[in-house]
Amino acid sequence: MSKKFTVAVAGATGAVGQTMIRVLEERDFPIERIVFLASERSEGRKLSFRGETVRVKKLDHDSFEGVSIALFSAGGGTSQAYAPSAARAGAVVIDNSSAWRMDPDVPLVVPEVNPHAVAGYRTKGIIANPNCSTIQMVVALKPLYDCSRIRRIVVSTYQAVSGTGQKAIQELKNQVRAWADNQKMESDVYPHRIAFNCLPHIDAFQDNGYTKEEMKMVNETRKILEDPEIQVSATAVRVPVFYGHSEAVNVEFEKAVSASRARELLSGAPGVKVVDDPFRNLYPLAIDAEGKDATLVGRIREDISQPNGLDLWVVADNIRKGAATNAVQIAELLADQYL
Ligand code: A2P
Repeated sequence: MSKKFTVAVAGATGAVGQTMIRVLEERDFPIERIVFLASERSEGRKLSFRGETVRVKKLDHDSFEGVSIALFSAGGGTSQAYAPSAARAGAVVIDNSSAWRMDPDVPLVVPEVNPHAVAGYRTKGIIANPNCSTIQMVVALKPLYDCSRIRRIVVSTYQAVSGTGQKAIQELKNQVRAWADNQKMESDVYPHRIAFNCLPHIDAFQDNGYTKEEMKMVNETRKILEDPEIQVSATAVRVPVFYGHSEAVNVEFEKAVSASRARELLSGAPGVKVVDDPFRNLYPLAIDAEGKDATLVGRIREDISQPNGLDLWVVADNIRKGAATNAVQIAELLADQYL
């Protein structure tokens, strides 16, 4: 009989937690028992799993008895506070927050890119799931990096509101409704109106003028590709899209990679779907990525401003590949090869 696991989802009521639960069902993860955890506010709430009703429990330091894998998506502070308790209880934590990503004793894993790094979980009992924008970018870049080292990346993101959580999804819906009804639009989650607007501001500003989100793309890309020399400059923008982050990525290689070679490499790459027939209006769209796990890559073209450059347009569902699916894929690697 194949092995089955007790799995906990911390943040089970949230935008990512809910999708983690659906992805565990869809991929038929070998589960013996499932535990749903959230804040006190959700205690006793009923959620369904494989047709059964499971009650949400309040996340506590003693929530992890008998748990083998704990998927966390309940914010950075919660992960900081509770992941060590889960690990002490014997669970391997797969954490979707940014709390542990840059800890040298915590692996940062994208299964298509650096699956071998999972082995590093043994030190702290924690594996970090990277930032959503970083995941889709490295999935698209790794096959090209293996052909020629990348020197520099300049990326602009167009990020969906679901990345901020349920409240932000509701805020965009409310504003669109208010706009259509000629009513005043309220902003609580974001510092400005998000409906029919673009905000060049994701997460807190740093002393160097970049935001934390932008610096995550710099530091996490280096860690995942295991290349501290890669230069990355990112501009992260929140746009009024519900699901699916889009990215304009400009890459400078050590040796030239032609657009046709890139298309060929990406066509056979794990987790990638090339959508690139611009004369037939075919290119990656957030609305096509929504609900799917593939990272869509298109608009592949040689950069006319430099000899070794390529431009790409990269789109993925930020809640699925950018968070829940990547976490469940890590759990699958763990279950298959380590536990
Ligand atoms: P709750 O629904 O009880 O507030 P989102 O990113 O969509 O806002 O979801 C955040 C998730 O993290 C929710 O499941 C939320 O639970 C959970 N969460 C937030 N703060 C805590 C906390 N202090 N303890 C446990 N779960 C928390």
